[in-house]
Amino acid sequence: MLDLLLTHATLPDGRSDMSIAVQDGRIIEVAAGLAAPAHETLDAGGLLVSPHFVDPHFHMDATLSYGLPRVNESGTLLEGIALWGELKPLLKAEALIERALAYCDWAVAKGLLAIRSHVDTSDASLLAVDALLEVKRLVAPYLDLQLVAFPQDGVLRSPGGVDNLKRALDKGVDVVGGIPHFERTMADGAASVKLLCEIAAERGKLVDMHCDESDDPLSRHIETLAFEAQRLGLHGRVTGSHCTSMHSMDNYYVSKLLPLIAQSGVSVIANPLINITLQGRHDTYPKRRGMTRVPELMAAGVNVAFGHDCVMDPWYGMGSGDMLEVAHMGLHVAQMTSQAGIRSCFDAVTANAAKVMHLDGYGLEPGCDASFVLLQARDPVEAIRLRATRLKVFRLGKVVAETPAATAALHLPGRAPATSFMPVRAGK
Ligand code: FE2
Repeated sequence: MLDLLLTHATLPDGRSDMSIAVQDGRIIEVAAGLAAPAHETLDAGGLLVSPHFVDPHFHMDATLSYGLPRVNESGTLLEGIALWGELKPLLKAEALIERALAYCDWAVAKGLLAIRSHVDTSDASLLAVDALLEVKRLVAPYLDLQLVAFPQDGVLRSPGGVDNLKRALDKGVDVVGGIPHFERTMADGAASVKLLCEIAAERGKLVDMHCDESDDPLSRHIETLAFEAQRLGLHGRVTGSHCTSMHSMDNYYVSKLLPLIAQSGVSVIANPLINITLQGRHDTYPKRRGMTRVPELMAAGVNVAFGHDCVMDPWYGMGSGDMLEVAHMGLHVAQMTSQAGIRSCFDAVTANAAKVMHLDGYGLEPGCDASFVLLQARDPVEAIRLRATRLKVFRLGKVVAETPAATAALHLPGRAPATSFMPVRAGK
């Protein structure tokens, strides 16, 4: 007898009327019209069942701290970093853990069951590292939290930066991070990329570096990152995050750069909500969008994912852990409004992000974890359009969150009594 049988599901790839059979927390069969006895049967009614959402770029040590000790008035990245520097000495581990756990509750409710979070390693006490390692342990039953050692103040620029980062890795932090554009010079930035990739290669770690998060068209750290990934044999194990300067780069240079990134197997993460907010702040008009060249990277064969980056912190006052909101902003900023473009934006917060994190057991194939989301939408395009309600969120075959369907009651003469914003489809 099966533990769970989900019927009449539509899958992200367009297959409809599909059944998903679950046993011992794993998907054992996916087929049309499957009938088998199960302890629990759920009729999806033609709605979309997707693998859970994945956020490959977040800062959980800062989340939900908006207004502490003040808000970012200029809205720039640099004031955000300065503000975080004011907040850091005031941080208490208990409060940080409490905020992070509250955010993880929001995430699970939104079907977001895997997060890669950077954690600041600049402070010699490693208070935030210890706190997020504790959060990782606490949420493990319901959320995969992967941590990146992130030297926010510059691994070379801040005293003890290299030692603090290595100690964070010793404690169990999973991924090597960096911030080359915040080092003192372009040369120091390049040196930091080389050093950090070597540390990752020695220790068998993945790399995820904040890279060229500026409007500077001459910032070249993604080029160095791609070079080091290739030199050290880190194909498929390295990610460049943000890469906003690519928006402002010369087109000829980008035509050389894109194949280099693709050949090195470096993934790129854009953070649409934050890139559209922080970048272009020094412009008058026209104002640059700042997000990296998403469709062009995808067309070149680069794995591109979207991250949330920030929720209610020194850099960004909005957000609720909703990766469909991230995809929604991403397709607007990148003008990826074709059907294929919108579906690619859905992939950017699901399968592509899972690839960045090297998540095992991700997907809707037999053998994958039964960790998926039933959405109040009929396909990925509708899911993004509506930022659709996550009716049920499953983790290893068990429901971990439920939200009632979003339906507006209407009181209009001669009209239907309710709407859920899903138009009647042609032929139906
Ligand atoms: Fe970031």
